[in-house]
Amino acid sequence: MDPARWNGMVVVSRGANRICVRDPGSPAHCLKYVLQPVDAPRSHPGHWLRARLAGTGNANLTELRAWHYVCPRTDGSEPWRLAASEAIVETPAGPALRCELVRDEAGDPAPSLHQLLASGIPDADGRMALADAVVRFEAWLQRQAIPLFDLNSGNLVRIHRGGRPELVCVDLKSVLARKELLPLSRWSRRLMHAKIARRAARLRSQVLGTQHATRGGTAIARHRTGH
Ligand SMILES: Nc1ncnc2c1ncn2[C@@H]1O[C@H](COP(=O)(O)OP(=O)(O)O)[C@@H](O)[C@H]1O
Ligand SMILES: [Mg+2]
Repeated sequence: MDPARWNGMVVVSRGANRICVRDPGSPAHCLKYVLQPVDAPRSHPGHWLRARLAGTGNANLTELRAWHYVCPRTDGSEPWRLAASEAIVETPAGPALRCELVRDEAGDPAPSLHQLLASGIPDADGRMALADAVVRFEAWLQRQAIPLFDLNSGNLVRIHRGGRPELVCVDLKSVLARKELLPLSRWSRRLMHAKIARRAARLRSQVLGTQHATRGGTAIARHRTGH
């Protein structure tokens, strides 16, 4: 089957705000286009304020700035953990953020955790291996101590290194995009580490299929572990 196309370019995937396509000029890069600019509608102040706080007003600019913020703050131990942003470029389809395309061994775009979960990971071993990859990603993130809070399955893609799956973050917006009016977890290291741990635990239980909704958010199904 022909891969889906957008403005003549091969689609990698779509997120909540942007579409990611292969860069026609380079197999090692992708281009991200903002699909719903939400800067304009001042007639809906609530919507506008939420969008400003979430940094979706100009997702590409937020991500480029986040990359420049994060890059010098990481220790270089696992440089492949984050997809690099290069620049905002003008293209025939409009302005785009040009990024390093994370690829698998065959050179194809690495699938996101979201895609893997939606397509059904083959077996329990596969889920366990991915859950362990979440643990290693979290350990790396805690060492870097950067406020990368949006650990949702669409923001992480899976590659293989050393014969096991590893996760790479392709969406850094949350490093700069605040969702709270009082961003306490950005002011306190302890709260930041705790928030990252909560988000990683939630993602891990989602991968393992042990997550269920509660009134206050989500919880790990305890009956499976017997605690
Ligand atoms: N650098 C990249 N390499 C490989 N795939 C990517 C890359 N950036 C984005 N993607 C794919 O595009 C999807 C949406 O990208 P994302 O940056 O999360 O957009 P949004 O701002 O809409 O959340 C991801 O889930 C992933 O599948
Ligand atoms: Mg995203």
